[in-house]
Amino acid sequence: MNPSIVMDVSIVLDLLLKRPPAASAKATLFSQLKQSGAIFYVATCSLPSLEYIHQREVARLIREGCLKTDISARIFAKKQLDTFFGQVQILSSPGYIWKDIPPDHTDREDAMIGLSASALPEPVYIWTNDREFDPVSKNVHVINDIYAANLLSKSDSDTISFIDLNLQQSIIRNPIEKSIFTVLRHGQYIMGKEIGELESQLQEYTEVKHCITCSSGTDALLMALMALDIAPDDEVITVPYTWISTAEVIALLHAKPVFVDILPDTFNMDPERLESAITPRTRAIIPVGIYGQCADMTRINAIANRHNIPVIEDAAQCFGATHNGKKACNQSIIGCTSFFPTKPLGCYGDGGAIFTHDDTIAEKLRQIRIHGQKIKHQHPLIGINGRLDTLQAAILLEKFRIFPQECELRATVGNRYSELLSSAYEIRTPVISEGNTSVYAQYTILTPDRDEVINRLKSNKIPSVAYYTAPLHLQGAFLYLGYKSGDFPVAEQVSAQCLSLPMSPYLTEAEQEKVASVFSQKQ
Ligand SMILES: Cc1ncc(COP(=O)(O)O)c(C=O)c1O
Repeated sequence: MNPSIVMDVSIVLDLLLKRPPAASAKATLFSQLKQSGAIFYVATCSLPSLEYIHQREVARLIREGCLKTDISARIFAKKQLDTFFGQVQILSSPGYIWKDIPPDHTDREDAMIGLSASALPEPVYIWTNDREFDPVSKNVHVINDIYAANLLSKSDSDTISFIDLNLQQSIIRNPIEKSIFTVLRHGQYIMGKEIGELESQLQEYTEVKHCITCSSGTDALLMALMALDIAPDDEVITVPYTWISTAEVIALLHAKPVFVDILPDTFNMDPERLESAITPRTRAIIPVGIYGQCADMTRINAIANRHNIPVIEDAAQCFGATHNGKKACNQSIIGCTSFFPTKPLGCYGDGGAIFTHDDTIAEKLRQIRIHGQKIKHQHPLIGINGRLDTLQAAILLEKFRIFPQECELRATVGNRYSELLSSAYEIRTPVISEGNTSVYAQYTILTPDRDEVINRLKSNKIPSVAYYTAPLHLQGAFLYLGYKSGDFPVAEQVSAQCLSLPMSPYLTEAEQEKVASVFSQKQ
């Protein structure tokens, strides 16, 4: 777990002015803690006194000949502070805090720091020289140099997060706060300008003509089927090894989900088995890009085109990946994705997007998104309330700035896992098909001893998750379709053996080595 460490003014001044007695020890501690993944903050309420005392002390050091520089004290101090602020985050103080400070509190600056810090992801520490520091908040721990050094020794043995969203948040927290405040200011909570900005950036990224953001990945699929006029008794082909949304939306429209088994290496739709599932009632095909890589869209599209059946790509897990050089969501007539928080591009709530090159479908999707409305109070179509919130779009715009870089980091982490686990005999590591790149939404292995592996990971404080332990054709909700055990043997085997390991663009080499070491422990 990456600790959040808020430094008070005295610690920052010790570091900048190299103040005795423990100046060099502090500097070492600061850089080692940073290396171990700690995220450092300085609270906005500390800034005026920090700047004032720092500049005064720099001037004194120059006067006393302890500091040699040919620029003025003011410029030297400013440059030094700017460099320092490049290494830490600024912690803002929400407006309500001042009123939350108890009237009898002796140091209101301490209280402001403590209460502001309590909004950060846990664990949160305030590093100070002040023995009397009273942070008011009970969620934060006040630490001195000695405890900060202890933190360093603890960080190695700390648990690994399954998906660490906190680290990403700390990197972009300030711009995210800024964009949230911008929405609070303009007040266009529904279909504000951020929606259009996000859609045009996503369009440009995927190189698809239209992007229509929407309320979730599930609604993206539902709206796509509605735009294709899928009706009761139509058949829609998909896979049994996926999150339930993919098939649920078919059933919601009273159409019939028809399952096709998956490939044993990529866990995506097996194109070989697709053709025989097509009937005169087939109206759409929904391949899924599971765990971060696209299905074999080239072959699936070729078969679909022969039968004149539209393909809807469920790219909820593979947004950012490519197949034969083209981005996910740009593979067929309609591409759908999800911005669920743990997805490769996730917001802080529910969200999704639909992509199409087709002008007519795009127009229809925009109407479906607002209750089938074409112009105000005229509803030629049945639609849904399918809009993305402006606040989520504002958050996504900031997340999207670092998304391409995060995709590269994800690939690095995925490849590193595969190298580290290459000699572990009890598991099968993911296979990325030729022509594909993966964003590793999950790093999923197959293991016949799943329960035993889970327990071994757990005893080393390493979380893991087995997704889709029962394939959809064996789920209660789909029993009415009449499938039985053995109908989709590959999906059934993958369901029985799959296990996803901790994954995030920011997983460190040390963390991955720790995970890998669990696999080599078997006698
Ligand atoms: C393959 C797949 N399809 C669809 C969805 C639905 O997305 P959402 O949760 O945004 O509705 C998900 C999300 O978990 C998914 O993994």
